[in-house]
Amino acid sequence: MTSLAGPDTAGSPSTTRAVRTDPMLPREFVVTRTRQDTRDTYTLELKAADGAPLRFAAGQFTMLQAFGVGEAPISISGDPACPDLLEHTIRNVGSVTSALATAPPGTVLGVRGPFGTGWEVQDGKGGDVVFVAGGIGLAPLRPAILELVAQRAEYGRVVLLYGARTPEDILFGDDLHDWARKHGIVVEVTVDNGQHAWRGRVGLVTQLVSRAGFDPSNTLAMVCGPEVMMRFAATALADRGVRPERLRLSMERNMKCGVGLCGHCQLRELFLCVDGPVLSYDRLAPLMARTEL
Ligand SMILES: Cc1cc2nc3c(=O)[nH]c(=O)nc-3n(C[C@H](O)[C@H](O)[C@H](O)COP(=O)(O)OP(=O)(O)OC[C@H]3O[C@@H](n4cnc5c(N)ncnc54)[C@H](O)[C@@H]3O)c2cc1C
Ligand code: FES
Repeated sequence: MTSLAGPDTAGSPSTTRAVRTDPMLPREFVVTRTRQDTRDTYTLELKAADGAPLRFAAGQFTMLQAFGVGEAPISISGDPACPDLLEHTIRNVGSVTSALATAPPGTVLGVRGPFGTGWEVQDGKGGDVVFVAGGIGLAPLRPAILELVAQRAEYGRVVLLYGARTPEDILFGDDLHDWARKHGIVVEVTVDNGQHAWRGRVGLVTQLVSRAGFDPSNTLAMVCGPEVMMRFAATALADRGVRPERLRLSMERNMKCGVGLCGHCQLRELFLCVDGPVLSYDRLAPLMARTEL
């Protein structure tokens, strides 16, 4: 993966940055819309106060700051082709994410970035593509899926395997429908707990990997979700024959600076804010096997 750290990146390592700014200095963005997706998850739409676009590569994150509360790394969940609109999908798990997720329209938030490596979904052109998402892990994958559907004819079979805790926790329901109906993506959804009127699958998303229809010898796979789910999904994909260098995971760790200075995100020799968050399985497998890291 190529690191695209710093603001004003255009999603390509060769991009010339017209303006270099201090990566520790947040830009002001205004919340223009807040949508409640599930019980605890919200999507914010933001626009830059200075009107300048924030170009990003699918898979990158920003350090998003609620002034007076704190800052958290949050993946960009919007369309890379629409850099005037910044979208973040946030699960309320603590003080910072609570302040961010419930910020009403008009709130000014601080944004640093975009930071980190991208999915580089275009590497899958000419072959099959498999996305495996668990819970809010669908949010960091959404920009890659939007990038793919914009050039759908360039890819072979595309499969999205998505696991949520309950039917009420399923994210981006309208998108899932569109991706299947309009873009020929095979979308398989499963839930851990399917009470109520749920008539779909119940079980772990990793169990869907073994019977999904794709050619492992010519597949790019992208996985995002809780670490234990990624571990099992990566093993299942590798067992099917997906090459480790064609299998990518987005890793989460505590982050403070986002630019490779503080060491909070260290995974042995890697700083996940600049070497990741998206990394290929050939680099990650030896590290993920060591639970203490
Ligand atoms: C590269 C990267 C991208 C991320 N993208 C997103 C994203 O798109 N959307 C999003 O909602 N979050 C995302 N996160 C996670 C997010 O940064 C954390 O949830 C956030 O920092 C928690 O801060 P807090 O102050 O709200 O909670 P804290 O007070 O720090 O934590 C509250 C409690 O929640 C637990 N917790 C912390 N993080 C998580 C988590 N991820 N899942 C479950 N429990 C957790 C803690 O262990 C603690 O018990 C990302 C993290 C990284 C590193
Ligand atoms: S968050 Fe500071 S080094 Fe990665």
